[in-house]
Amino acid sequence: MRAAAAARIALLRAEIERHNRLYYVEARPEISDREYDALLRELEELEAAHPDLATPDSPTRRVGGAPLEGFAPVRHTVPMMSLANTYNAGEVREFDRRLRALIAPHEPTYVVEPKIDGVAVSARYEKGLFVLGATRGDGQTGDDITANLRTIRSLPLRLIGEAPPALEVRGEVYLGKAAFARLNQEREEAGEEPFANPRNAAAGSLKQLDPAVVARRPLAVLFYAVGACEGVEFPTHRELLERLRGWGLPIPPRHWFCPDIAAVERALEELREARRAFAFDTDGAVIKLDDRRRYAALGATAKSPRWAIAYKYEPERAETRLRAIAVQVGRTGVLTPVAELEPVALAGSTISRATLHNEDEIRRKDIRVGDRVIIEKAGDVIPAVVGVNVAARTGSEIPFSMPKTCPVCGGPVVRREGEVAARCENLQCPAQLKRWLRHFAARNAMDIEGLGEAIVDQLVDRRLLDSPADLYSLDAKTLAALERMGPKSAENLVAAIAASRERELWRVIHALGIRQVGAQSARLLAEHFESLDALMAADETALTSIFEIGPIVAGEIRAYFAQPRNRSFIEKLKAAGVRTARAPRPAAPAGALPLQGRRFVLTGTLAAMPREAAAERIRALGGAVSESVSSKTSFVVAGAEPGAKLDKARALGVPVLDEAAFLKMIGATPA
Ligand code: IVH
Repeated sequence: MRAAAAARIALLRAEIERHNRLYYVEARPEISDREYDALLRELEELEAAHPDLATPDSPTRRVGGAPLEGFAPVRHTVPMMSLANTYNAGEVREFDRRLRALIAPHEPTYVVEPKIDGVAVSARYEKGLFVLGATRGDGQTGDDITANLRTIRSLPLRLIGEAPPALEVRGEVYLGKAAFARLNQEREEAGEEPFANPRNAAAGSLKQLDPAVVARRPLAVLFYAVGACEGVEFPTHRELLERLRGWGLPIPPRHWFCPDIAAVERALEELREARRAFAFDTDGAVIKLDDRRRYAALGATAKSPRWAIAYKYEPERAETRLRAIAVQVGRTGVLTPVAELEPVALAGSTISRATLHNEDEIRRKDIRVGDRVIIEKAGDVIPAVVGVNVAARTGSEIPFSMPKTCPVCGGPVVRREGEVAARCENLQCPAQLKRWLRHFAARNAMDIEGLGEAIVDQLVDRRLLDSPADLYSLDAKTLAALERMGPKSAENLVAAIAASRERELWRVIHALGIRQVGAQSARLLAEHFESLDALMAADETALTSIFEIGPIVAGEIRAYFAQPRNRSFIEKLKAAGVRTARAPRPAAPAGALPLQGRRFVLTGTLAAMPREAAAERIRALGGAVSESVSSKTSFVVAGAEPGAKLDKARALGVPVLDEAAFLKMIGATPA
């Protein structure tokens, strides 16, 4: 039985990692996402049933373990340096001249590769196993982000083929362009601050102390250099890339071997175009001497090695006419000015809209309607208006001012002291109401299938509701009268709305649309408060005592519940039969979980995880955790500096587990 499980586990792990590689490294998946998920689920179940068979390199570990209390420092044996930047062909030739003089009589040859705009990381493999991940930090010492890197699916947890005793690879963690757009859209819908660019998003993600949060961000990684290695040498950079690829490590999608500097210039031009098709942002190229045996002798300046240089592309710009400034109203009532442009080609696409951020930005740049404006693709993603061609002014241009009334409902627009955003304060504003309804019904909120944009628009425009609470009193007849709604789909929608009464508490909290409270914070809140009433009653201290809930979010939560209108909305939800308390945890079938019926008492400090995380893990495996030792206690787990509970356990003859034994029992890895 156990042997069969072990064999199946080994097979599943190998298969899942092979599919990870096919999907993330080689971009040629063989199975559907659904089939992949099924393999992963089967492995999770087997590992839960056999905790002793869990290993640190299992793909299930990629979903993130317990939150960290902080990052431990990691000293880089080989420092992580940065690169000198150049901006034009002259500087590139100068780099070539310098290198020639330094390595004469040898002739330099080069490799050109994309400069990935992400976050520099180092990953250490020992005997082929991923053991340590670190950020650059100050170049000498970085943060230990092993748990977070483990969640990145393109990072192999085990190298394929013959691996050296130690290999430290360096590269860049990034968030793909498409993933970035999706993440920001989700954040905006949740009323959270969007990330400025993919690099910030990747950096912010890697800094999360909770690897489970990191696991939900679709980060990827590419490697292009090595640090401290043992038992392996790479005579050329080309060879280095080939070897990394051979071990299953992802490398940049293209590189150019250049026999001389003229070839480098051609490669730079080719890359300028090719980079548009890359999944990641590329703000430049890196030119590296191919012959690595000369690196040591060439050495480095204070900051960067002499054998490589970065070449930055000018951000792509275009000039066009600003036809109008539209003002959009968001879910929280924020008014955002958007430039409506005469369509123009920029960096491979046609642009007709661009962000203007807010009123202050428009004033600072003195952007007027009718101006010839310069647009730029910032970080290659969202086009922005960066300036005005003032020389082209005719005098007929019109300065912008934020409307005093909401363009949608005519309600008053208010700009609060200290805020850059102007808001429509009319809570019945159709634009706000529509956004609110869409948010309420979203997949990561109340998850009401069939309540799409077209239906929401009609419900609001026909004044069929004043708040999402009114959804629960809609009947099939009313809905069937809407456009694009047959009797059957009307009935389905009524059923979907009714079913949403039983959603989990975190979904209800998220659906309220409290500023700064996204799905993740909502989950945390629901774990700590068993009902909406308990959350409503929580003071600032109770809120901020939750890991990851800071004073700003706590302030927004308090402000939300302080509003009578919001309280009455919650009353309406309750009256409509929406469950606003946590569901009792379903009783697990007897014997199904490995720690079922076992009682644990924890004492002392564990190196691998905070005590609360250990308790959580025990409960997840079916066990119970209590505070004091009695004859009913099955095990006492003794960490460093255990207290009197250990003495009591010994006195009562209760079995004592040290940290290693405990971790083994719950299938976790030592710190
Ligand atoms: S080689 C000794 N290659 O850009 C430095 N760096 O501005 C070795 N970067 O610190 C770096 N893409 O974080 C190298 N293809 C690439 C790169 C790259 C992005 C980053 C890296 C570096 C920074 C320098």
